[in-house]
Amino acid sequence: MPRPTALASFDDLAPELADFRADVLRGLGEEPKNIPCKYFYDERGSDLFQEICGLPEYYPTRTETALLRDLAPQLGALAGPGCFLIEYGTGSSEKMRIVLDALDDPAAYAAVDISREHLLEATTALAEDRPGLAVHAVCADFTQPFEVPDVGTGGPGRRIAFFPGSSLGNFTPEDSVAFLATAARVVGPGGAMLIGIDLKKDEKILNAAYDDVQGVTAAFNVNLLARVNNELGGTFELGAFRHHAFYDAREGRIEMHLVSTRAQTAEVAGRTFAFAEGETIHTENSYKYGVDEFRDLARRAGFTPVKAWTDARDLFSVHYLSVADQAPTDEGMSS
Ligand code: AVI
Repeated sequence: MPRPTALASFDDLAPELADFRADVLRGLGEEPKNIPCKYFYDERGSDLFQEICGLPEYYPTRTETALLRDLAPQLGALAGPGCFLIEYGTGSSEKMRIVLDALDDPAAYAAVDISREHLLEATTALAEDRPGLAVHAVCADFTQPFEVPDVGTGGPGRRIAFFPGSSLGNFTPEDSVAFLATAARVVGPGGAMLIGIDLKKDEKILNAAYDDVQGVTAAFNVNLLARVNNELGGTFELGAFRHHAFYDAREGRIEMHLVSTRAQTAEVAGRTFAFAEGETIHTENSYKYGVDEFRDLARRAGFTPVKAWTDARDLFSVHYLSVADQAPTDEGMSS
């Protein structure tokens, strides 16, 4: 696909349909059955996720957005001038714009996203709005190795990775450390990361956030089977699976499952899978961390925690981490 002219670069690493097929076939062959949550986000899934972000029960998006607005005046001084901001995903242009506006004369921005259409739409709109900013788009699965565009020497200050939305929570703690260690290498010595992390809290608040009364999260979960039907020739009967989400306090995570409401079989890419009544497909984990618990993960990955902000109700946290001890460490918090 040619690069839209407003963009400084467009690298299409073309994540493959073959990966989707292989991951689904492997996951449905395992005990317990599972499908990786990164496959939620086809066009319909991305639209449903946007809807989730606006639900009364789903506090993370509005809480993090308000936190970013509050911390914005401190960010320019922490990050310094001429930064290269690298966003993992293109979830909310509102959050990204708050961060860009807070930075001192940022030189470049790159977004890395598996969804090509969404990526090009978001980055092209930004490039058209900000002619002085070099805007790069990288279509890639950011859980796999990828190259960051070479934005040239002499101009940019530090590289800052931006990973909002508590998307890290969708990895296991071990995978989170590995992911953060890779991000630390991407930003390099002197680089930094601004990351949103959902906090542990009252189970009732958590359970409601993942099982809203309007059933949008349920539709988001079941859409995964619709995607398997559409793209892999699946024969799932969508009405025969129901959404189930619950907080597991021992694991510190929300689990989402699709529960088979009766004994049945479904075919995917020519293979047949049998489901007992009540058997589930595990579709997502969403880990929650205390501030110190997350800081430990970040340290294990080679980051130095510099600053953390939480909201007045202790629902959500935003952390500024640095790679080398070049920024002064302030273990104190403000809200
Ligand atoms: C994208 N991710 C951080 C969301 C979460 O909260 O774990 C995905 C989500 N699943 C259900 N609701 C939202």
